[in-house]
Amino acid sequence: MATALQDLTLADVAVDFGDNAARVDEFIRLGREFWLVGGMFGPVVTRYEDVTAILRDKRWHSASGKLAELFGVTDPEFIANQQVSILSAEGDVHTRLRRLVSPAFSPRNADALRPFMRDVVNGLVDSVAAAGKADFAVDICESYPIPIICELLGAPASDRDLFSRWANDILEVFSMDMATKIGTIMKAQNELGDYTNAMIEERRSKPADDLLTLLIAAEEAGDKLSNDELVMMVNAVIVAGTDTTRNQLGCAVALFAQHPQQWALLAERPELAPRAVEESMRYFGAVRETARFASVDIEYRDVLFPQGTFIGLFLEAANRDETMFPAPGVFDITAPAPKSPQLTFGSGIHYCLGASLARAELQEALPILARRMPNLQLDGPTVWKPETVGIFGPERLPVTFDPGH
Ligand code: HEM
Repeated sequence: MATALQDLTLADVAVDFGDNAARVDEFIRLGREFWLVGGMFGPVVTRYEDVTAILRDKRWHSASGKLAELFGVTDPEFIANQQVSILSAEGDVHTRLRRLVSPAFSPRNADALRPFMRDVVNGLVDSVAAAGKADFAVDICESYPIPIICELLGAPASDRDLFSRWANDILEVFSMDMATKIGTIMKAQNELGDYTNAMIEERRSKPADDLLTLLIAAEEAGDKLSNDELVMMVNAVIVAGTDTTRNQLGCAVALFAQHPQQWALLAERPELAPRAVEESMRYFGAVRETARFASVDIEYRDVLFPQGTFIGLFLEAANRDETMFPAPGVFDITAPAPKSPQLTFGSGIHYCLGASLARAELQEALPILARRMPNLQLDGPTVWKPETVGIFGPERLPVTFDPGH
């Protein structure tokens, strides 16, 4: 007979968000004692096996469409807009969307942007190389993803500032005080929607070599994306594909700054880039957790989770699970690839759609940075971003390095 969730007393993690390393360690420690730990919005799982089992179980639905509800937002127009996103869609609706859009996000299409990615990184390093000093988060991470997303979508370089503002405003959906930011979020979503609609109209008459054209053309068995769905996809790419990438780059470089030999090795052997990306995402991922809710009553490991229960999936703790990774506490970009993938891109049906693009962005950036910023060292305290739901990284990352490269 399964135990009802409400009859369990779960150990709570007392360490606050400010001390990330201590908080992760505490979750891992408690997760070893019992597989469910108490969290902010409900129980949390920390072990690799449980995190992947729940992410792959279609009865657990994405909580991203519920963020507004969790944060007390009641605006009906806002809530209706959130519900159609690929990030929160489930069942046949999600399957259909994924089938239609997946080919546009193929590794081949991501690879086509690699030369552009290298140009963007080199341009950013050019502006700080002579000084041998930078705030890595502000000078490099902040400006890296937007030009790439604009190039991907086919938006002109002159509109990058616009996209940057829309991305910043729309990304408030992940902030703890999103309820006070609804006006800003909706304004940016509407402006982006108008912009995208104008672009769609243009591409319908004049196709180009870009993601929007591919998405417009995407068709399966006579089925096509509607205009609203195309706008939603552009919105999803900005919500899911900008802050994630810039924070992951910041987390990786903060990590390398504490592992100077690994940094020097990457400069010497750029072919290590793919392993460097997976290992830094495993050891220090920018998406530390995600959440699901039970769409029906669910029995799992002898516990009954009533319909509507929220559950936290602690990706960062699962990435340190010693039953899956032989030396989870060691950061080593030369270690053989583990049998199981790191989980910072998630798992199951919502597995990151932009993973090939994100991998390409990081694989191109890191070796260039390692070569052009030799002897990288922290130059003062790193300031971490304020508590948000999911995405984490440095707000300030002052570094020094040997100038002139
Ligand atoms: C290092 C950078 C990135 C990380 C760490 C990351 C991480 C994730 C994670 C963990 C999920 C699943 C969330 C869940 O299951 O609740 C996800 C989904 C998604 N990501 Fe990424 N992402 C990154 C970059 C990107 C990029 C560059 C794009 C687009 C260009 C993108 C587009 C998406 C989309 C559209 C989804 C939703 C997929 C679905 O629900 O079917 N991501 N991402």
